[in-house]
Amino acid sequence: MRGAGWLAGLLAGLLAAGCGESTSSAADFGEELFQDDRLSESQFNHFSCATCHATTPSPAAGRLLAGHTLHNTAFRPSWWGGYETELLNAVNFCYVHFMRGVAPLTREEPKSRALYEYLVRISPDPQAPALPFTVVADIMEVPRGAVSRGAEVYRAACQDCHGETHTGKGRLTEQASVLPEVVNDYDALFPGVPKSLVVIEKIRHGQFFGVGGNMPLYSLEALSDEDLGALLAFLEL
Ligand code: HEC
Ligand code: HEC
Repeated sequence: MRGAGWLAGLLAGLLAAGCGESTSSAADFGEELFQDDRLSESQFNHFSCATCHATTPSPAAGRLLAGHTLHNTAFRPSWWGGYETELLNAVNFCYVHFMRGVAPLTREEPKSRALYEYLVRISPDPQAPALPFTVVADIMEVPRGAVSRGAEVYRAACQDCHGETHTGKGRLTEQASVLPEVVNDYDALFPGVPKSLVVIEKIRHGQFFGVGGNMPLYSLEALSDEDLGALLAFLEL
């Protein structure tokens, strides 16, 4: 018979912990969730928030991530280039589309509360402005750049998920195709379309515009056309 007495004890303990303390432990829990791919209940998901977002004031050195750093994200007036005006919706966009979350996170869930407290903790500036986010609408060829720069871009932007070129060694998940060999099928799949354009489409639109999958898209802010051109030269495309 541990019934009511046990529950009352637990509640008393929680109340005694006090408000400030529970907020900071919620933020700690949120930080763990941020780095854990099990945040999404899908067994097919291998991404955590940290796969695509830094949390430091400036972007992470040596990495070109698809998402902005989330330092100061909590109080911006809008997100996703103005498409989202609620923070939870901005997060759910990633959660559902990239992390295969089965249903959007709801405001009441402890997971959402904890993530929110963590995002607040890394947002010291309550006046932080919205960040630019420019999606390339029309897919066009870009001038090719230096192979050496392309190798750096590959390491900084693609390698975490895709592993080494030609083998995929060290890739995050086997779902991530081996580059650039995956293009060998493109003539059959996309007859008449240059292979490089299919790759540019994938990088610029991710899963959107009917492309499918769960790779993130790269805006112009995340990856310049110049770096894209260097990357394509490195991939011999
Ligand atoms: C597969 C990559 C990926 C994953 C995983 C991911 N995101 Fe994103 N996220 C993006 C991209 C791309 C954008 C659009 C560019 C941007 O605004 O940062 C974005 C945008 C956002 C924004 C809006 C930022 C702004 O100022 O416009 C927030 C907030 C955000 N993500 C939070 C999260 C959180 C929290 C998680 C984990 C639950 C997460 N994201 C998981 C790629 C990802
Ligand atoms: C967050 C992880 C992640 C990052 C970062 C990433 N990819 Fe991907 N990519 C994937 C996954 C997973 C797939 C397979 C599912 C899909 O098509 O979305 C994929 C698919 C692709 C495909 C299409 C393969 C096919 O099936 O035709 C290409 C091309 C590609 N990635 C290129 C790149 C390049 C180039 C970069 C770096 C600029 C990059 N990816 C960065 C995860 C990632």
